[in-house]
Amino acid sequence: MPSSDPTSRVHELSELLREHNYRYYVLAQPSISDREYDTLLEELTGLEAEHPELLDTDSPTQRVGGAPIEGFETVPHRVPMISLANSYNLEDVQAYDQRTRKLLGNEPFTYVVEPKVDGVALSLRYEEGHLIQALSRGDGRSGDVITSNIRTIASIPLRLRGDSVPAVLEVRGEVYMTRTGFVALNEKRQLAGKDAFANPRNAAAGSLKLLDPREVAERPLDAVFYATGDLQGLEFDTHLALLGCLAEFGFVTPKDIAPCTRIEEVTEALEALLEKKDAYAFEIDGAVIKVNQRDLYDTLGSTAKSPRWAMAYKYEPEQVETQLRAITIQVGRTGVLTPVAELVPCQVSGTTVSRATLHNWEEMERKDVRVGDAVIIEKAGEIIPAVVRVVMEKRPSDAQPLPRPTECPVCGASVHRKDEEVAYRCTNPTCPAQAKSWIRHFASRRALDIEGLGDVMVETLVDQGLLETPADLYTLEAHYDTLIHLERQGEKSIDNLLAGIEKSKSTELWRLIHALGIPQVGERSAQTLASAFHSIDALRSAGEDELIALDDVGPIVAASIQDYFKRERSILLLDQLAAAGVQLEEAASDATDAPHTSFAGKTIVLTGSLSSMSRNEAADRLRALGANMTSSVSKKTDMVIAGEKAGSKRAKAEALGVEVRDEAWMIEQLEGGRQDESKAADVEPPLGQSELLF
Ligand code: IVH
Repeated sequence: MPSSDPTSRVHELSELLREHNYRYYVLAQPSISDREYDTLLEELTGLEAEHPELLDTDSPTQRVGGAPIEGFETVPHRVPMISLANSYNLEDVQAYDQRTRKLLGNEPFTYVVEPKVDGVALSLRYEEGHLIQALSRGDGRSGDVITSNIRTIASIPLRLRGDSVPAVLEVRGEVYMTRTGFVALNEKRQLAGKDAFANPRNAAAGSLKLLDPREVAERPLDAVFYATGDLQGLEFDTHLALLGCLAEFGFVTPKDIAPCTRIEEVTEALEALLEKKDAYAFEIDGAVIKVNQRDLYDTLGSTAKSPRWAMAYKYEPEQVETQLRAITIQVGRTGVLTPVAELVPCQVSGTTVSRATLHNWEEMERKDVRVGDAVIIEKAGEIIPAVVRVVMEKRPSDAQPLPRPTECPVCGASVHRKDEEVAYRCTNPTCPAQAKSWIRHFASRRALDIEGLGDVMVETLVDQGLLETPADLYTLEAHYDTLIHLERQGEKSIDNLLAGIEKSKSTELWRLIHALGIPQVGERSAQTLASAFHSIDALRSAGEDELIALDDVGPIVAASIQDYFKRERSILLLDQLAAAGVQLEEAASDATDAPHTSFAGKTIVLTGSLSSMSRNEAADRLRALGANMTSSVSKKTDMVIAGEKAGSKRAKAEALGVEVRDEAWMIEQLEGGRQDESKAADVEPPLGQSELLF
């Protein structure tokens, strides 16, 4: 029976919500539905509003509190945050073992090998079980107070679990961003004309430096804990006991911990972890080897920089030297100018790289990159190729830096830089380069997917003055004669193009939303918005509350959507699209009416590699059959389709009891679907959407 007295009920609800939060974010074993959780949270929010005296700073309603701050206060660490010595090969590891054995004499000891998380170091201080301060590493002696930002990370306990909490507990760990979170964040940033982060670690670091906790709350951050600082009223004999105790207090601790007695076991554990590295949802940049017996730490001591009881074993990202042939400037669809390194092609981590982003002029100047330089390339975060540094010894004597732009390299209009942005933008709204990027995005495979409208065709049509905006695509038919006389364009390719344009009028709504290029709205958010609103009109008139109630949509994205629909250029585009007959709502055949009950209306995650098609293609086909495709497994997931080498997502699905299917099963369902589809087509005219499928 729920308590009727508000004080007891607030207490009861806080305890319940804390427990469910822990089950969801830390154990990944939820026991109630989202709706039930929200109902409890709403009840607590209501009671706290009615009885402000009952509001506790640790309340589950208080994760994103507090107004933006002016800057971070810096305070000393009670126990310095020192770093680890690095090793890069197994000989170094053997040598470390020899040194340790020498220092410890006959003292028996064992090791623990655990993953080294590539994130940002963090120290949390709990007094009497309450989180009172979060500090960044800073220079190791003092760090920034980032408590409000850290409180937004849902898996971090605001209050320790259990009845016997120590007087003081400082826990140390790593804040990180998952790879998928990083890619989605960069996609949004690029759409908003902001600089992309080079890798997930920089993205996590940048997020923690934000002055507004509400913005931090929108960043896909998480944390894992593996060490302690100041401790009062608590001791651990071993590192394993420490990890066990942290887990009991409610922290996420590293997975794949390997206790090892002999050094051969350490090497095996290091190799096993390297094998597993890509199955992690976040970056692992190596492993950490720790002596398990904490009472030996004093005997082992530390050097000025690092303790002798542990050592990092780092996996180096592959770096390759090549030559920078030229620096070109790309003009994006929002007018952002991006310097791009044109390279002598080279192989990096298994792919050929011939171009790498230089991000912006500040970055380029900081690295002092010049045409003709020998440069070191790596795939940052193993995703985007980047120029790491210049090999200065090899610099040609006449190498000149690329001056900052004063005008658009394409249309010659002046460029402008907003105070808060690093990017230069072309100020001409009718700049052909902007038009080209805009139309290219609109027609791209992950947007309206217009067949026959490749980069060269866009180039030609804009240069010929036939296209200025995506809406002009729908008037091209009227210029048929001009089109077929365009250089190298035969009747067949023009017919193909016009058919592609016609087909794009009735495609899935999420594609259109993505095609619009609303700043901050990438492919994933476009899918979320389409499933929630079913039409452009409904999206246009959605209130902030309705928008932020959706997954992946926070206040910033919501504001950007609302702002987009107020702009003259957007209003004009949508009017022109409607007039041309482009469907601004979900086609009748979408989702729920689809005959494929295996997928319709289900939230599905694809993981691992597929042998019969790419993951993107499979996702498109499932989506067109009514599936809602997402990238991370949670209790909301209905099904995981696991290809070869599926790793952590599959494991998580199994842990959560989510249905797991393989590729063969999916193909069988899709093939079955194809027969159904063609039978249906005999009776009814084929729908644009089903044509897109097969
Ligand atoms: S133990 C005395 N364990 O790597 C230092 N560190 O390069 C205690 N890191 O400063 C750190 N994963 O920020 C430890 N499992 C792990 C780790 C880890 C990542 C970070 C940490 C540390 C840095 C050293």
